Amino acid sequence: MLELRGQRVLLGVSGGIAAYKSADLVRRLREAGAEVRVVLTAGAEHFITATTLQALSGHPVRTSLWDAAAEAAMGHIELARWATQVLVAPATADLLARVAQGRADDLLTTLCLATEAPIAVAPAMNRVMWANPSTQANVATLRARGVRVLGPMAGSQACGETGEGRMREPADLVDDLAASAVPPRLAGRRLLVSAGPTFEDLDPVRFLGNRSSGRMGFAIAEAAAQVGAEVLLVAGPVKLATPVGVRRIDVRSAAEMHAAVIGALPGQDAYVGAAAVADYRPAAVADRKIKKGEGAMLLTLERTADILAEVAAHPARPRCVLGFAAETHDVADYARGKLAAKKVDAIAANLVGRPGSGFDADENALTLYWNGGEREFATARKTDLAHGLVGWIADRLEAG
Ligand code: C5P
Repeated sequence: MLELRGQRVLLGVSGGIAAYKSADLVRRLREAGAEVRVVLTAGAEHFITATTLQALSGHPVRTSLWDAAAEAAMGHIELARWATQVLVAPATADLLARVAQGRADDLLTTLCLATEAPIAVAPAMNRVMWANPSTQANVATLRARGVRVLGPMAGSQACGETGEGRMREPADLVDDLAASAVPPRLAGRRLLVSAGPTFEDLDPVRFLGNRSSGRMGFAIAEAAAQVGAEVLLVAGPVKLATPVGVRRIDVRSAAEMHAAVIGALPGQDAYVGAAAVADYRPAAVADRKIKKGEGAMLLTLERTADILAEVAAHPARPRCVLGFAAETHDVADYARGKLAAKKVDAIAANLVGRPGSGFDADENALTLYWNGGEREFATARKTDLAHGLVGWIADRLEAG
């Protein structure tokens, strides 16, 4: 679990409906160990009260540059110096525009200009406002100046529309800040991750698939990017947003995943095979819908390539190759068997088929097996497990 112990987070809240989430955000930042001071813009005060945020942060909330009593207690320059991280969440289109222009027309924009701490913004607005070239130009300006732009996400919006513009969830924002506070152990390293299921077509309307959600692989890609790796994610058909800073190639079948992974192999430092790749595919794909007949139907399936084993035996083999094993029984024996048979550096094994872990769950428990050792990762969120596994990869790469 990443923490924010010792971090002093200045949370700026601007005036959008997502401001109601800042109460939860303050609580989570403090749970992660951060000290939090909150600044509200005049717009934000229409959506959430200073009283709520004062109670949750444990400190008076600042709203104005011209508050003599507050300036006497901790002046705005002192507040700008106090912060080790600045997060503006939600960041409205107007706030982004003002910060991009270098304005100092209220307390929050003044603090953004006066701080030397890293600044992150979590945009939240109507999808058309987000897509507007003015907003996009402002975001590009901020990015070019080193401001981290976290989100927005796609989904349903308070205005009744659906699209890109939802604020990134508070729990994810806390993870983003925590990750930026840890050393960039994989800076300069390249990591290739495969994730999700594969779908093997039978005919134009049917396929053979599996229940992998892709969450573990996506979490690993995200965790590696958070500690500085250049990450390429080869994703089977999943309903997940691309993690911040990760490049993604979408594939459908095992054959497509194989081609994408092998094609991207040269120059990678590590490969993580977290995908649930089909072991068999229909020997022939019908070009018309297969009609039902009397009695049973026989399908002939043929083997697919074992991507993980091929990566481990490839002339461009990355230094560290990690696979997964999802088993319903005898986990340790199968995992050690796979380690030897596939000639990989480690196998992360988990028990599937129990409620609340494995496929399609938020949490999981894993045991990592390698030649000469093993490590238990107790039940935790997949994002936390991912940081554990990425830490092990970093140890391996550092050991040379
Ligand atoms: O042999 P098994 O499927 O149990 O091994 C699981 C590991 O092998 C996973 O890391 C999975 O991504 C990888 N795998 C693969 N290509 C296949 C089958 C499995 O890369 N065709």
